[in-house]
Amino acid sequence: MVEKKDIDWSSLGFGYMETDYSFVSNYKDGKWDEGTLTKDHTIQINECAGVLQYSQSCFEGLKAYTTKEGKIVTFRPDLNAQRMADSCKRLEMPEYPVEKFLEAVEKVVKANEAWVPPYGSGATLYIRPYMFGSNAVIGVKPADEYQFRILVTPVGPYFKGGAKPVQIKVPDFDRAAPHGTGNIKAGLNYAMSLHPIVIAHNEGYADNMYLDPATRTYVEETGGANIIFITKDGNLVTPKSDSILPSITRRSIVTVAEKYCGMKVEHRPVRYDEVKDFAECGLCGTAAVISPVGRIFDHGNEINFPSGMEEVGPVIKKLYDTLTGIQAGNIEAPEGWIHEIN
Ligand code: PLP
Ligand code: COI
Repeated sequence: MVEKKDIDWSSLGFGYMETDYSFVSNYKDGKWDEGTLTKDHTIQINECAGVLQYSQSCFEGLKAYTTKEGKIVTFRPDLNAQRMADSCKRLEMPEYPVEKFLEAVEKVVKANEAWVPPYGSGATLYIRPYMFGSNAVIGVKPADEYQFRILVTPVGPYFKGGAKPVQIKVPDFDRAAPHGTGNIKAGLNYAMSLHPIVIAHNEGYADNMYLDPATRTYVEETGGANIIFITKDGNLVTPKSDSILPSITRRSIVTVAEKYCGMKVEHRPVRYDEVKDFAECGLCGTAAVISPVGRIFDHGNEINFPSGMEEVGPVIKKLYDTLTGIQAGNIEAPEGWIHEIN
């Protein structure tokens, strides 16, 4: 066991901190190189690089956890590898092979073992794989050269206040066009969200709840998480749309709800005018985990969930406890969900 860094883990927020190693691999002449760990946390690229001119970039997010026995594990990293490959296809970028992705995650987490927060500290090691077009392109076309990197950084809760319910708002802006890029993890989806999120934060909201851009009658997701609802009779409802990011956390919650909590699950389009009738609401994602939503604000109107702004609703609490119990190794996981870093 390596000695852990001297960090007050429990007071960490969701921020970037330079750690010892990142992973880097370059794509040139139609192939990826072997890839290596690096201590260099800066990148030098041409002023005309595809990422700088036409935002050709995508990323992933997953976490490493310390179990009670002191093992370091990651949660379903194969799904991140596959989703990144899907993002690459849509953005005309070369896929980073799934097996190599998994090896790279393992290597970079192991090399930064001292930065993996201890069990029970409330913090985790956030793992951010990303890729960008690195050579010069001035006509609108894909780059020929790419860099794949993974940085890691210890993090605490994404939303201030940890498990306290947040309030979100319906913004005046849309997130992802029909047949657009909402279902992949492209950097451009987040660039467009910066203006509405600054407005939301200035007004005291944790995030925006985007509606479907074509009709604005269905619920999509927030800027950084999928949305889940609990009906008054205790079913899980998850919005279905082609322009929502297929959250790995949400897909896992569906299994947890059905197999561990004996709940019924409905994955279907959710009309915005039904939201007022749900008993509980939450935001789910790697960073968000499951954050309860107490209130949705929409241009002078409010939806206040019965669970309120002080307490997590009972069903979301049960889903949260079960999911995080699985991630920390305290509850037996379905086959293949937990990857031990050796
Ligand atoms: N939706 C958006 C827009 C996100 O950025 C994220 C974060 O990754 C999620 C949903 C949640 O996805 P996951 O559970 O795979 O982290
Ligand atoms: C994640 O949950 O991993 C994300 O990428 C969301 C982002 C808002 C931090």
